[in-house]
Amino acid sequence: MSKRVLDINDLNVGFSSYGETTKIVTDVSFHIDEGETVGIVGESGCGKSMTALSVMRLIKCPPGYIKGEIRLNGKNLLELSERQMCDVRGKDVSMIFQEPMTSLNPVITIGKQLMEVFRSHEKMTREEAWKKSVEALELVKIASPEQRMKEYPHQLSGGMRQRVMIAMALSCRPRLLIADEPTTALDVTIQAQILKLMRNLKETLDTSVMLITHDLGVVREVCSRAIIFYCGQVIEEGPVEELFENPCHPYTQGLLKSLPVMGSRDRLYVIPGTVPSPGNLPEGCVFNPRCGHATEKCRNCRPQMTDISDGHCVRCWLYDKEG
Ligand SMILES: Nc1ncnc2c1ncn2[C@@H]1O[C@H](COP(=O)(O)OP(=O)(O)OP(=O)(O)O)[C@@H](O)[C@H]1O
Ligand SMILES: [Mg+2]
Repeated sequence: MSKRVLDINDLNVGFSSYGETTKIVTDVSFHIDEGETVGIVGESGCGKSMTALSVMRLIKCPPGYIKGEIRLNGKNLLELSERQMCDVRGKDVSMIFQEPMTSLNPVITIGKQLMEVFRSHEKMTREEAWKKSVEALELVKIASPEQRMKEYPHQLSGGMRQRVMIAMALSCRPRLLIADEPTTALDVTIQAQILKLMRNLKETLDTSVMLITHDLGVVREVCSRAIIFYCGQVIEEGPVEELFENPCHPYTQGLLKSLPVMGSRDRLYVIPGTVPSPGNLPEGCVFNPRCGHATEKCRNCRPQMTDISDGHCVRCWLYDKEG
């Protein structure tokens, strides 16, 4: 059996302000095994980044709260002190953030920022850190790395900055890399290059990857399993091939139907209705107001996860075995 790198159980994340609590992530459970690339998919605002930030423990609590269990290599991160967590970040788990343009410090050279990562986790001289940083840039295929080390972020293109971010995130060989929409801000050709790079690096370094995206095309290309989020809940999960061939949840079916098909002149399918806001979620199944199959039961009771086949499960009353 492959080793479990990340194991999330009943994660609940939200914010409290002026005595009111807004739930953002509700009872989320999933895992990532050694060497796996798992896609976290869902519409904007469904809690993907919040889940990732919870793993990094980068949500300010209070006003935020994170409840449940987040085990990384068996250790519950929610029980660690902030000091212990500082050791974990970058070394055991690291994250590429959604905004590549703002994640690098604009007034510090690339080299200094990279060297800082090495020196904060391992005792190293300046020379050693410089050498390691050049190697890290070479690993992500940046040409003339010595020269780039002396430059500032604005002197690099968007794609190059994202490569630097990847180099930084992988510098201490973390067991888990969280990539939050790593290619959304890039144009399509650069996007393809970055995805290829990530795939190659994953194979060389054997890092597990949590890839957050709203792009099912990206999921199909690089992930082995996918977890589908809707309104802060996992509504379906399974091996990618199985999900594309046999999507069960009406939301997943809608997502797949709304993918453009090459050569087709048909209008793109749009899932009717809009995503409810986190403070105003419907009773029962969160998808029921937009679902063509919704019954009285769907409007009143929240469905549990039901197994469909090996590793494939769905949160929908249509598949409930007890009726
Ligand atoms: N500091 C905060 N206080 C209150 N609500 C917040 C805060 N930060 C985020 N949210 C809310 O949490 C919800 C989930 O946000 P999150 O960033 O996780 O979405 P996402 O799935 O990553 O979306 P996207 O695809 O747009 O990045 C959103 O409705 C957002 O408005
Ligand atoms: Mg996000």
